[in-house]
Amino acid sequence: MQSYRYPLFIRLTHLGLIIFGLSAFLTGEWAEEEALGYLVHAYLGLALTLFVLSRTMVGVVGPKALRFSSWLPITSQRFSLVIDDIKRIFHFELPQHEKHEGLSALVHAFGIALFLWMGLTGTVLYFIDDYEMSKIGEFVAEIHEVGESLIPLFLFLHIGAVVVHTLLGHPIWKRMLSFRKV
Ligand code: HEM
Ligand code: HEM
Repeated sequence: MQSYRYPLFIRLTHLGLIIFGLSAFLTGEWAEEEALGYLVHAYLGLALTLFVLSRTMVGVVGPKALRFSSWLPITSQRFSLVIDDIKRIFHFELPQHEKHEGLSALVHAFGIALFLWMGLTGTVLYFIDDYEMSKIGEFVAEIHEVGESLIPLFLFLHIGAVVVHTLLGHPIWKRMLSFRKV
């Protein structure tokens, strides 16, 4: 099962999501505090936006297996796999799938939607001069701040799953984070 690896393009895009997603998240507070913080955060955020938009494009027009239409848990059959996985976890069993299936598909979709939201609302903020001085600027800053609580939740679920699988002898991290020649 561990032989599967995501295509190189997806692994590189994911590396961008990790680097710019985490650094944009960690500099969010700083953006509110001083001008330098705003600049650093904004440019990290804009870079993240390019990576998440590129993963979204692949989800729409890319290879069939990676398209949202092939894996989003929106059909009743796929959704029942999510419920099955949750039941398994309550019975202390580890759900195992090849890639986007069951609960992992739901968490992956949540991650893409959340970071897309942060990137797009952040990009709108970037184009509002003196965003703190206008009603619309304040509103966009407010809806941008959902990331403050939802990003830690996503990271906990996503990284937590990778760590638990790896500790239990299923090194799924290699599917995404290994760049060694095979
Ligand atoms: C695309 C460019 C982006 C711009 C221009 C931008 C701009 C801002 C600004 C101006 C604030 C302060 C909001 C306020 O004053 O209330 C902020 C906060 C924040 N941003 Fe961004 N942002 C961008 C992208 C991102 C991305 C991609 C993430 C997440 C990966 C992110 C995460 C955060 C967080 C967590 C906060 C702090 C919220 C808080 O502590 O209240 N931002 N951002
Ligand atoms: C240190 C942080 C991270 C680690 C260790 C990590 C690790 C992984 C691993 C091992 C997989 C493959 C899981 C599997 O096939 O079952 C994966 C998939 C995925 N990760 Fe992450 N990840 C991290 C951060 C992020 C961030 C910030 C995002 C932002 C959206 C993200 C989005 C995704 C998505 C969407 C997938 C599914 C693959 C795809 O279709 O693109 N990850 N991650």
